[in-house]
Amino acid sequence: MTRTALAQALALTSAPLPDIDTDLFVVPLFEGESPSGELQAVDEASGGAVGRAIASREIQGRPFEFFLTPSTSGWRAARIAAIGVGKRGEFTTERLRRVATAAGLNARQRRVARIAWLHRGDLDPVAAVQAAAEGLMLAAFSADRYRTGERCNPPAEQLIIAVDASTARPLLNRIEVAVERGRILGECSNISRELCNEPSNVLTPTVFAERASEICGGLGLTIDILGEREIAELGMGLLQGVSRGSSEPPRVIVIRHDPPGAPASPVLGLVGKGVTFDTGGISIKPADGMERMKDDMAGGAAVICAMRAIALLKAPRRVVGIIPATENMPGGRAIKPGDVLTGASGKTVEVINTDAEGRLILGDGLWYAQKLGATHLVDVATLTGACVVALGKAASGIFGQPESWVDTVRRTGQAAGDRCWPMPLYEEYAEQLKSEIADMINSGGRPAGACTAAMFLKEFTNGLPWVHLDVAGTAWAEDSKPWQPKGPSGVAVRTLAELAFLEPGAFEGV
Ligand code: BES
Ligand code: MN
Ligand code: ZN
Repeated sequence: MTRTALAQALALTSAPLPDIDTDLFVVPLFEGESPSGELQAVDEASGGAVGRAIASREIQGRPFEFFLTPSTSGWRAARIAAIGVGKRGEFTTERLRRVATAAGLNARQRRVARIAWLHRGDLDPVAAVQAAAEGLMLAAFSADRYRTGERCNPPAEQLIIAVDASTARPLLNRIEVAVERGRILGECSNISRELCNEPSNVLTPTVFAERASEICGGLGLTIDILGEREIAELGMGLLQGVSRGSSEPPRVIVIRHDPPGAPASPVLGLVGKGVTFDTGGISIKPADGMERMKDDMAGGAAVICAMRAIALLKAPRRVVGIIPATENMPGGRAIKPGDVLTGASGKTVEVINTDAEGRLILGDGLWYAQKLGATHLVDVATLTGACVVALGKAASGIFGQPESWVDTVRRTGQAAGDRCWPMPLYEEYAEQLKSEIADMINSGGRPAGACTAAMFLKEFTNGLPWVHLDVAGTAWAEDSKPWQPKGPSGVAVRTLAELAFLEPGAFEGV
């Protein structure tokens, strides 16, 4: 399917450390710690090199510091690396995931084929090994499929997570499951990143739907691809309106997970924005940086890849994933400012700005999720530049109702490594969306641009529990970080997948 999806072996071991056969044995190092316990054994295996590096402050345990040394005595591992993970008291699964990715990227730079990661620290071992597995997998992402010359180093072939036998024994089953879960979630994040990297001349709405069928096929999911005729029959005039300017026909990708024996409700409805390229339409964007708008389907990719994870992991809840997919182009038949569209819900929208296209197609997507029985909605979209202005690249904006459902999704996201920061939906924002001639206009102008966009979506939720994630700032990294290269991040894949594992209680009373 993709380069990333070539399954990497990821195994758990609780063998004695000297017996672990690997090319690089990676040990997390806390700030200010000196070799004792398992770290002392590591130090001895390095011939004292780790201890000397700590003593000389070459490595102090600050996050992402990396120290590599040969293993000298008695260990099967060829080399040992210490990687800084920061203060013991500040150690979280998010930090662990990032540090594990950094270790994986460091190893990849050195063409290491086999990596072992030592589980250390006070986190719940089940959550910790999952985060470590995710992090190591995230380092396997490759962005150069269109390069014909020299390609980047291949990812490691074999990953091992080492957990001390006394920690592992009482939890063995759960730890094994967690490692496999981390592997799948990491892999699905990478598949989403690959989709986001695809240029729009390759990834048209038609091809996007075909890829969705490949990614989600053969796993027990039900996949329906709606074409132009079905879209017209359903009356999805908002999606049709956006697609009019393009020669590429729109699609609605529908993926359903109905685990046998699952209760009829809740039904989680995941809706992802699938604009395979956003020129802005007649309200055209400036040329500078427009190439980035190939990733305006990142929300849709997140839903597709989360559905794959949900199926592979046999999540207990019913889930329906919906991705309205289209280009936003300025063609001769394109919608124009002032045009009025009628969505499938019956609501009419005066299109003030054709570049506010995401909320239009999501309006029809949210409607369709409800038609298919969704009781709890989550949409993910690269929706507004204003969200990037508000939060930068550090967090996605999270909006919704009621607060308890927003909190649940936010907490799930935080644990999964998708930071979200709560944004308001004040009544006043609705004022900015009043039309003289229709139910709403599609742009509230510059003030509170991320909030008015969310307010527009709220009109399509009929008061159901709903969360909107604006990932305009988080779907794509502008600069490389120790834990993340430049480019697509795979945002929201793990969060959406984890939501399908929430206890029934998390859906009740909201
Ligand atoms: N896809 C863009 C939002 C976006 C901007 C994503 C920058 C990633 C980076 C969206 O369709 C858009 O164009 N939004 C407009 C809305 C405006 C016209 C009300 C925006 O943010 O400028
Ligand atoms: Mn736009
Ligand atoms: Zn857009």
